Amino acid sequence: MVRFENVKKAYNDVTVIEDLNLHIKEGQLVVLIGPSGCGKTTTLKMINRIIEPTSGSIYIDGEDITKVNPVMLRRKIGYVIQQIGLFPNMTIAQNVEIIPKLLGWPADKRRKRTEELLHMVDMSPEQYADRYPSELSGGQQQRIGVLRALAAEPPLVLMDEPFGALDPITRESLQDEVKRLQKKLKKTIVFVTHDMDEALKIADVIVLMKDGKIVQAASPEELLSNPANDFVAQFIGKHRLNDGLEIETVEDVMRHDPVTVTKDIGTSESVALMKRKGVNSLLVVDDEGRLEGVVTVDKIRKQGKAGRNISELIDKDIRTIPTNTNAREAFDILIEDKLDYLAVVDDKNKVKGLVTKTSIVKALAEVVWKDNGHE
Ligand SMILES: Nc1ncnc2c1ncn2[C@@H]1O[C@H](COP(=O)(O)OP(=O)(O)OP(=O)(O)O)[C@@H](O)[C@H]1O
Ligand SMILES: [Mg+2]
Repeated sequence: MVRFENVKKAYNDVTVIEDLNLHIKEGQLVVLIGPSGCGKTTTLKMINRIIEPTSGSIYIDGEDITKVNPVMLRRKIGYVIQQIGLFPNMTIAQNVEIIPKLLGWPADKRRKRTEELLHMVDMSPEQYADRYPSELSGGQQQRIGVLRALAAEPPLVLMDEPFGALDPITRESLQDEVKRLQKKLKKTIVFVTHDMDEALKIADVIVLMKDGKIVQAASPEELLSNPANDFVAQFIGKHRLNDGLEIETVEDVMRHDPVTVTKDIGTSESVALMKRKGVNSLLVVDDEGRLEGVVTVDKIRKQGKAGRNISELIDKDIRTIPTNTNAREAFDILIEDKLDYLAVVDDKNKVKGLVTKTSIVKALAEVVWKDNGHE
């Protein structure tokens, strides 16, 4: 749908976008995120030619956008700017109908569309269509800003921090709405934010930028489980597992059924068990369930002897954490120490669970998606 090829933007000698390559696929909601000044708005505005690249090309549906008249181009692209930008002297209906009107839709078709859109966001047309923006709350105005961008049914919608100044509750409900509209109307959306929670909630793909460059472009799950470098890890770490989520201790994010064995189990039996359970390591415990160490499939393959048990192959150097460890802290340990897992033990060193990046992502996804039917 949108393709950036070696796009660069410089103001005088200062490069603000450096060799940007990005492919935004049809129907995707792609979130651009990163610190202030990293080039998110610039990237967005180059798509509808409000800003022209210094070099490189941008294609929409295979067509080089420099070949398209910018005014015509913009009529086909919905745009929600960083401030709401409703026209104060126009009614809500007139605001929503700006582009349809420019496109020459007849009045009755425009009105019908406006009513349909207002219903979509639970604002009755009778009540709101003929009011002025100043007679609406901030959240309602932002809703209208979003509707205006969708009014002419553009296949592509650009949104620059559309929910910037909203309270968390209104913000959440608008996020849900955008996600729902995107799925229902199959729109391609490029969405700018600097809020990682927002990105994780709505994105199909998150593009994390820094100093005019893409640091990582990946699905939320990939980003959480495989951050490309320390900057990404930090950026996620800071934003994840913070207040407000119903995740507190590692008990909320661990696997409760780690596969445990005692050390008298044979090597081939261990490998078979791992295969059956779909894991690549087993926690070794004593008869009381106390942790002794871990044995991995790699080690058995390399050093194991057929017909022997695993006792000589146990790695006792496994990192453990107590059950009441803060989930965020566990996540930070995993990422910073580049570990694959942490064993969760009680005060008698009995195994209670296993924290892996996957288990954290699953727990997070549950919290994040719980209320809007995402499977
Ligand atoms: N007209 C301009 N002339 C010179 N520099 C500019 C101009 N417009 C933007 N910049 C610079 O380009 C860089 C990227 O700006 P941009 O607006 O894309 O950042 P952003 O990621 O959207 O930031 P924010 O999160 O604060 O909105 C910044 O360093 C900014 O100062
Ligand atoms: Mg910006």
